[in-house]
Amino acid sequence: MAAGAFLNSGSGKDYPGNLTLFVFVTCVVAATGGLIFGYDIGISGGVTSMDSFLRKFFPEVYRKEHADRSTNEYCRFDSQLLQTFTSSLYLAALVASFFASLVTRAFGRKWSMLGGGVTFLFGAALNGAAQNVAMLIFGRILLGIGVGFANQSVPVYLSEMAPARLRGMLNIGFQLMITIGILAASLINYGTAKIKGGWGWRVSLALAAVPAAIITVGSIFLPDTPNSLLERGFPEEAQRMLRRIRGTDDVGAEYADLVAASEESKLVEHPWANIFQRKYRPQLTMALLIPFFQQLTGINVIMFYAPVLFRTLGFGRNGSLMSAVITGLVNVFATLVSVFTVDRLGRRKLFIEGGTQMIISQIVVGTLIAVKFGTSGEGDLSKGYAAVVVLFICIYVAGFAWSWGPLGWLVPSEIFPLEIRPAGQSINVSVNMLFTFAIAQAFLTMLCHMKFGLFYFFAGWVVIMTIFVYLFLPETKNVPIEEMVLVWRAHWFWGRFIEGAPTQNGGRLPKDPNSNVEMNPPAPQRQKQGSNFTLNLGISL
Ligand code: BGC
Repeated sequence: MAAGAFLNSGSGKDYPGNLTLFVFVTCVVAATGGLIFGYDIGISGGVTSMDSFLRKFFPEVYRKEHADRSTNEYCRFDSQLLQTFTSSLYLAALVASFFASLVTRAFGRKWSMLGGGVTFLFGAALNGAAQNVAMLIFGRILLGIGVGFANQSVPVYLSEMAPARLRGMLNIGFQLMITIGILAASLINYGTAKIKGGWGWRVSLALAAVPAAIITVGSIFLPDTPNSLLERGFPEEAQRMLRRIRGTDDVGAEYADLVAASEESKLVEHPWANIFQRKYRPQLTMALLIPFFQQLTGINVIMFYAPVLFRTLGFGRNGSLMSAVITGLVNVFATLVSVFTVDRLGRRKLFIEGGTQMIISQIVVGTLIAVKFGTSGEGDLSKGYAAVVVLFICIYVAGFAWSWGPLGWLVPSEIFPLEIRPAGQSINVSVNMLFTFAIAQAFLTMLCHMKFGLFYFFAGWVVIMTIFVYLFLPETKNVPIEEMVLVWRAHWFWGRFIEGAPTQNGGRLPKDPNSNVEMNPPAPQRQKQGSNFTLNLGISL
């Protein structure tokens, strides 16, 4: 692939070097870490809609579901225990990501990935063989630990390996693998639900071992990133690796910047204490808000519970699993759109377009359901009507898949300075998991109580996050990862938190071209040793 094809000239520093085959292959292998997360997201919804599974582990839900058809449709699957099955994984991932940050910083990114793969393998085995709810939930906790380690290390690994101008594209490989994992899981559920003996769910759960084996074996062969090698005191290896991944010997400027970042990083003994310093306020805010917002889009209502949701809407068993396959396909293909546009259009445009699309489609879906089911929850959907509901759910999924889906992992992984990167990424993962957990735990109950209003609820959040992005998220496309502080310094709001940002500019405040808001304080001219970088945000600095 010609790397230059994606170059948006003039935006940011451009170190010499191309997208080498070596870096491409390592990034593809590392991105497979996303498969385990995706497989897991996709598998639980289908399994919890299988009768044989419900009868064995959740007989009460099974009875309720088969009870009198006049029962309120919104509340058919409402069960705390069933929700705990889905959500226990995310609590485990939340805790695990903190441990992962220590491993990632002290031993390198690849060992975190390996740890994630191995734990996930054990979880898959336990789940496939489960005899009771305890085994099931314990297995899911192991899977969660695996996800915590993988999600903590893979996005950072990808962002450090990639050349700046292709960072978005390579990083989104992670999200692409998540979506492929989700799709594979729904296809497998579709097949295993048809198994007559009632053990199809075992196959679905045990097959999680396949993506786990891929990342486990893959990570053994992965090299570590130059940033991590330097930080851990291997300067020669770091330089050699940089030459190898950039495919050129002319890596002096980039190496000098890595050394500068690593020197600063070494001054920081306690990244967990440092991240709360004022100068990291913009990054900390994003590490907290981006994953929170990503989950408040409501995407996992569709991802976890699509089959259950579609059955609630009166789809037959087959129809509901099939609809989950359709949303899964849309998710994969729409993610590809962001792969090819994120480094050209930038992050902000995708966030704003995707957000708007999600708001509109959520309002339409909520209204379509309101019209048919009202507040009583009684009613039936005709085939044509149901198809329109699925269509708008697909438009919503596409909007997510080229905005908050990939960018929810990309942006946090690229905005932290090296010294707080693992800590910052852990915060990102754990907030993401906390709210994934909250939504997984609460959705069936929320649907039962808020009814169609649930879709308006999430639409309201997407309005808030879209405005937030417009005002507070600077564009980060093409900016080298170790130079990112300049973007914050130049921002109209965040500049005030960063030292060294002058407060005068001839009395005039330039406008941020992305938000069209006055920048205060104005960005300084950056002259860095070993670098001739002027940050080009479309303004003269
Ligand atoms: C999110 C998941 C979501 C998935 C859907 C990911 O970025 O973190 O929670 O299920 O996208 O594709």
